[in-house]
Amino acid sequence: MPLNLAVAASICSLFCSLFAIVSAEDPYRFFNWNVTYGDIYPLGVRQRGILINWQFPGPDIHSVTNDNLIINVFNSLDEPFLLSWNGIQNRRNSFEDGVYGTTCPIPPGKNFTYILQVKDQIGSFYYFPSLAFHKAAGGFGGIRILSRPRIPVPFPDPAGDYTVLIGDWYKSNHTDLRAHLDKGKKLPLPDGILINGRGSGAAFNVEQGKTYRLRISNVGLQNSLNFRIQNHKMKLVEVEGTHTLQTTYSSLDVHVGQSYSVLVTADQPARDYYIVVSSRFTSTVLTTTGILHYSNSAGPVSGPIPGGPTVQIDWSLNQARSIRSNLTASGPRPNPQGSYHYGLINTTKTIRLSSSAGQVNGKQRYAINSVSFIPADTPLKLADYFKIGGVFRIGSISDNPTGGGIYQDTAVMGADYRAFIEIVFQNDEDIIQSYHLNGYQFWVVGMDGGQWTSASRNQYNLRDAVARVTVQVYPKSWSAIYIALDNVGMWNLRSESWARQYLGQQFYLRVYTASTSLRDEYPIPKNARLCGKAAGRHTRPL
Ligand SMILES: *[C@@H]1O[C@H](CO)[C@@H](O)[C@H](O)[C@H]1NC(C)=O
Ligand SMILES: *[C@@H]1O[C@H](CO)[C@@H](O)[C@H](O)[C@H]1NC(C)=O
Ligand SMILES: *[C@@H]1O[C@H](CO)[C@@H](O)[C@H](O)[C@H]1NC(C)=O
Ligand SMILES: *[C@@H]1O[C@H](CO)[C@@H](O)[C@H](O)[C@H]1NC(C)=O
Ligand SMILES: *[C@@H]1O[C@H](CO)[C@@H](O)[C@H](O)[C@H]1NC(C)=O
Repeated sequence: MPLNLAVAASICSLFCSLFAIVSAEDPYRFFNWNVTYGDIYPLGVRQRGILINWQFPGPDIHSVTNDNLIINVFNSLDEPFLLSWNGIQNRRNSFEDGVYGTTCPIPPGKNFTYILQVKDQIGSFYYFPSLAFHKAAGGFGGIRILSRPRIPVPFPDPAGDYTVLIGDWYKSNHTDLRAHLDKGKKLPLPDGILINGRGSGAAFNVEQGKTYRLRISNVGLQNSLNFRIQNHKMKLVEVEGTHTLQTTYSSLDVHVGQSYSVLVTADQPARDYYIVVSSRFTSTVLTTTGILHYSNSAGPVSGPIPGGPTVQIDWSLNQARSIRSNLTASGPRPNPQGSYHYGLINTTKTIRLSSSAGQVNGKQRYAINSVSFIPADTPLKLADYFKIGGVFRIGSISDNPTGGGIYQDTAVMGADYRAFIEIVFQNDEDIIQSYHLNGYQFWVVGMDGGQWTSASRNQYNLRDAVARVTVQVYPKSWSAIYIALDNVGMWNLRSESWARQYLGQQFYLRVYTASTSLRDEYPIPKNARLCGKAAGRHTRPL
């Protein structure tokens, strides 16, 4: 919710000198958020949820390409807190990323003003609390970045534009779930699925004959979900910042951490219809329903709840392969100047990442290339900036699977600015995985069952692969992505399965240049909180 002008002006007096360096000509939007505990009843029992301005889910962020977002977050919880931004690239500015590897937690009773710019971006994303398993209690909300007014969008303006946050949910609160993980145990199956914070009955109003955009994000903790609407088709138009070929689906798999925009036309007889979300690849299928309500509805939902795919992997893989970029649609792309096509560039390096699960000292841990991440006492980006030794080691994670047993370290992988790399996610485990990289959009060039080999490259899509921020890896399968490392910083690469990232399935990619030019990286924000070994340092020379 934008602030009133007086407050905006007082914040501006503090930060506008920074905008002057950054992007004076681009508009900025102010948000003032109070993060509190509050009672919520998503599955019918009272829980202590995390609210933002007394809302669960939190308020949406509406923005336009290149806007500056000034978000002042007051932490009224009794625990340190951070928000992070799934999909906002924070170009040249990983300090604002809001994960513990880049940003000091906001202490209880304190605030921190994030200064973000949605530079060269469009699309549908979400924000979420990144620390201490807070995500299990709420604190998330939708982010939409609209195209600038004169930039054509490859479909007519919809009659309405809805944020649809879906996700699995536990009746246990986040402190109990966290204690469970800290004891070294796995989480039980979730208790249900929510649509916009409700275990049932979330309603979306439509007028007969009109077309609506639904921005669907899976903000849950682990389950892939299938989304469908009784008697209605969905036309996919956007995936995490890319306009897609407009393909029609009767149901859509949304893996944890992913976002999709679909157009739905209210072209059926006027009544209410089920919106259905059900879990994928689980032995017990969790299902929840919401309502698509026609304004001239003749009656409530009726008929059987439409079924969807449950354990079928090939169905999902085929759907994933059918999702392509619309090459003629305008809109910011990972190479905004359009100066190259990703399929024509030789990659300079291949990184292969393989997950594993196991016990360390009698406790459950998860690892990438055998390293199970443990946080340092200081955000890695701050240690890097202030040249504080002894916090992390570059190369503390190998860029190929080692085959060894799991061990714990503060895993940081070095990478060269402007390299063009291939990352292969190999999943030898029997569960579906989902990976996210902060700071970037990447091209999903291929995925298939079995072991990746160099011959797998023959089947890559080097023409119209979709560029996105989160990729699924099917059980006993691989997925491959290409990334242009054009964003300097310390970037979190993590499992979006929240217990797995909490217990170590993540690391940081340090994209480095020796240059100190503002064109490559911004200096530390003046208002950055300093903690750990960085406490007492100065964000500007005295
Ligand atoms: C946030 O909400 C809490 C609880 O209502 C209140 O005590 C506190 O003053 C609020 N903080 C701000 C900065 O508005
Ligand atoms: C906290 O909010 C105040 C405005 O209420 C602002 O002046 C201050 O810079 C904020 N603190 C941080 C660390 O961003
Ligand atoms: C791709 O985008 C163009 C340009 O906006 C549009 O005319 C066309 O319908 C789109 N094609 C598909 C298959 O979505
Ligand atoms: C979570 O529930 C437990 C009881 O099961 C309670 O002791 C704890 O205070 C609760 N945590 C929060 C944040 O409400
Ligand atoms: C890519 O590598 C091939 C084989 O080494 C070479 O012939 C080609 O010119 C390279 N392409 C580019 C764009 O550098």
